[in-house]
Amino acid sequence: MANFQILPPAHYPPPAPPEVLVLPLFKNKISWDLIEKFTGHQVSVDFKGEWKETCLLYPQEGGRKVYLLGLGDPDQSKRAEMAFRSLAFKHRKDWTEVGVYLDEMPPEIHTKAAQGLTLGFYSTKDLKKQLADQRFDLAYSFVSGHEEATKWLDAGLKTAHSQAAMMRLVDLPANIKTPQFIADYAKVSSLRNRYKFTRYEMGDLAKHGLHAVLAVGQGSIHPPLMLELEYNGSGNEGSRPQLGLVGKGVTFDTGGISIKGATNMHYMKSDMGGAAAVLGAVEMAAKFELPIHLVAAIPLAENSVDAHSIKPGDVINSYSGKTIEVINTDAEGRLIMADALAWLHKKFNPEVLMDLATLTGDCVRTLGYEAAGLFSNNAELIEGLQKAGNAVHERLWAFPMWEEYGKDLHSDVADIKNIGSRPIFGAIFAGKFLESFIGDHPKWAHIDMAGVAFGDSEFAKTKSATGYGVQLLFEFMKQLSNKS
Ligand code: BES
Ligand code: ZN
Ligand code: ZN
Repeated sequence: MANFQILPPAHYPPPAPPEVLVLPLFKNKISWDLIEKFTGHQVSVDFKGEWKETCLLYPQEGGRKVYLLGLGDPDQSKRAEMAFRSLAFKHRKDWTEVGVYLDEMPPEIHTKAAQGLTLGFYSTKDLKKQLADQRFDLAYSFVSGHEEATKWLDAGLKTAHSQAAMMRLVDLPANIKTPQFIADYAKVSSLRNRYKFTRYEMGDLAKHGLHAVLAVGQGSIHPPLMLELEYNGSGNEGSRPQLGLVGKGVTFDTGGISIKGATNMHYMKSDMGGAAAVLGAVEMAAKFELPIHLVAAIPLAENSVDAHSIKPGDVINSYSGKTIEVINTDAEGRLIMADALAWLHKKFNPEVLMDLATLTGDCVRTLGYEAAGLFSNNAELIEGLQKAGNAVHERLWAFPMWEEYGKDLHSDVADIKNIGSRPIFGAIFAGKFLESFIGDHPKWAHIDMAGVAFGDSEFAKTKSATGYGVQLLFEFMKQLSNKS
């Protein structure tokens, strides 16, 4: 439950007020009376409440510092989250306790305040020290007279904790976050949040015929694994899952024998961003007890260079029974995803089947860092996902999936090959490749998040995890569960 204090406005300030009070304000809606109440004197400052605008007002003797924080326009709650996060990030070393005055704020701003402040305390520094659990040592007291304030604030904290945990997984170096490490995290999360967890070790993968997952992992000293997670909040025992999720969990992508250049190779520790998003989504569904039946398959492997690695031209088998000619070992994500998609489809046949993967450089070149690519065979699903994405500012742009793009999948020596014959429409080709492993499933979507999982921001000096996908999937799951 909540680890914050909540105070009704009439009782504020408490006998021992926090050193810092944050007073969030919307653009052009500045309540000077309120400011005066908290500073204890009349102030005249040039503050308009623009997004992320801050103004520090010094107290009268013995009082506390007041930060005015601009949230910008009232209808942009995602931006409000970033305003809180940005302020907290700047003060993460000197704040130990903070009060936030939310009495005049709508529900979503309560949530975003708790979420943003908590995420502000996430830092990529000292990753190793904080391995086990990220500590958020900030003592909060929120001031709000709303009856449901505790619920709104608690939602923000819960979301932030899941998102930060996923960001941590993505930011950790590959020598630490091996497939085993991620599996261990998921196991603990499943016990804490009460969802079903199954781990398929190498022997199980072989037994069940998940040949493509094995093939990608065969060059690494860290054995490949597949996780299967299930949460059923619908209350219907044995019901057909409404949603099946697959997340790409390549813990490091060297490219394999088709090795990548050295310049940006270290960023390839983030090649499990899809897995993190899916894991976060299952954790959130369980934490919030959404009335939804959800299954997930997370294939985990390290794409390494070794005498045992798959080689260009190798023909491998797959769970679906289709043989694959591996022309390029750097197109490894689609191989493990193909197995996991076919697995979920065959074993559970969920109503909606989705996958998230940092899949192609081509998608990054097309959309940059502003949106993930969306590839689907269902217009209604595209609409629902884009709506969810816009709501949390994790945007999706739909690509065409015309039949003609699938022509080049043909291989002379196998059922299918893993890259196209020419270096064009690479992201769509990858989508078409995955589509050929979902059988006749009518409601499938693939999200290529290569450009948005890991990026530059004000929160780290180099690229770092964005947490993309957790909030998007949560929003989409809420949408799905409202329908049923
Ligand atoms: N993990 C990469 C895709 C990627 C690129 C993720 C940039 C994040 C940022 C993927 O496995 C890959 O290497 N794809 C190749 C495919 C190519 C060989 C057809 C690519 O996009 O270059
Ligand atoms: Zn690759
Ligand atoms: Zn990859």
